[in-house]
Amino acid sequence: MRSVAITNIGRLVTNDPSLGAGLLGELRDAAMVIEDGRVAWVGASADVPAAERGIDAEGRAILPGFVDSHAHLMFAGDRADEFAARMAGEKYAAGGIRSTVAATRAATDEQLEARLVALAAEMRASGITTFESKSGYGLTVADEARALEIASRHTAETTYLGAHVVPAEYADRGTTGVDEYVNLVKNEMLAATAPHAKWIDVFCDRGAFDPDQAREILLAGKAVGLAPRIHANQLQHGDGIPLAVELDCASADHCTHMTEADIDALAGSNTVATLLPGAEFSTRAEYPDARRLWQAGATVAIATDCNPGSSYTTSMPFCIAVAVRDMRFTPEQAIWSATMGGAKALRRNDIGHLGLGARADLVQLTTDSHIHLAYRPGVNLIHSVHTAEDFA
Ligand code: NIG
Ligand code: FE
Repeated sequence: MRSVAITNIGRLVTNDPSLGAGLLGELRDAAMVIEDGRVAWVGASADVPAAERGIDAEGRAILPGFVDSHAHLMFAGDRADEFAARMAGEKYAAGGIRSTVAATRAATDEQLEARLVALAAEMRASGITTFESKSGYGLTVADEARALEIASRHTAETTYLGAHVVPAEYADRGTTGVDEYVNLVKNEMLAATAPHAKWIDVFCDRGAFDPDQAREILLAGKAVGLAPRIHANQLQHGDGIPLAVELDCASADHCTHMTEADIDALAGSNTVATLLPGAEFSTRAEYPDARRLWQAGATVAIATDCNPGSSYTTSMPFCIAVAVRDMRFTPEQAIWSATMGGAKALRRNDIGHLGLGARADLVQLTTDSHIHLAYRPGVNLIHSVHTAEDFA
């Protein structure tokens, strides 16, 4: 058995209230022992048991690695001009997705994989130790299947998003074309992608898919063993949230537009409300009220939504800072949502916390306090990032 003791931790966030104070289960002057990549002991630095190897944290803060439960990393090109036009007054619309679809179809497997690897490295440097990645920029049977096959080499959390938008060659033929595309998504395309995917997602919003189409597609995915999640209410209010609850989706993502009934439905369900601060930031949209969701009893996650259209960031600290400043979260709530909340949105209990038995996926900050993640926005506070494999 390989054991490592990390001592002299200024503030240790465990997310396990049985181990420490408050929501974050926080200990000061703490230590932890990791055995074969799993957390085996947590306590006061003065009481640390012997281990084969030691790491001195020199007073720095340690927290669980961030869990990014919503990202789109399989694409080519970018949309910097679209962003600039938006900042000059244009509105964001789902149709912009089609320009990334054209670039993605034209890219080689090697180019797509290289882009994903580069973005995943940026994520890791920002403290993300688990990320989800969706398809959705191929929108042919072959392009969706290759996107997921390539992504599955790099993450276990792969999501089939054939229902991102109706591609131009079908949309151009009106409702007949749209019906044909929905059929393709839930039959041939699903069969080709399911072996490489764990999740199925639908963009249920204006300019994308309506709730009836979303239900059909998500039920087809469930029937072949994919677990559902949904992009809901990014661009306008709709029925995406009740649909997510009805289908026991792991998460309803965006939730930019919500009614009290939506909040109550989420609070009474196992569906996590996944907020994407980078999307409101980059589309200059109104921010949802995270505090209201939290107070109602909903489980909330924060994710990057990294994609070339609405949120081209891989930085979870940036998302935490925005969630605190503009979504009315406290720093503790935002940090919990970027770790434990993300794990719950992926229905994982081995990550997102540093309780006994958890994977030793952790971030060491350059400072002694996790609060600095929101208090010092835009400053790189990541000292080092480890995953369980580093300790095994
Ligand atoms: O999560 N909302 C749908 N999908 C992405 C945006 C995709 C794009 O604009 O390329 C999102 O924001
Ligand atoms: Fe998204």
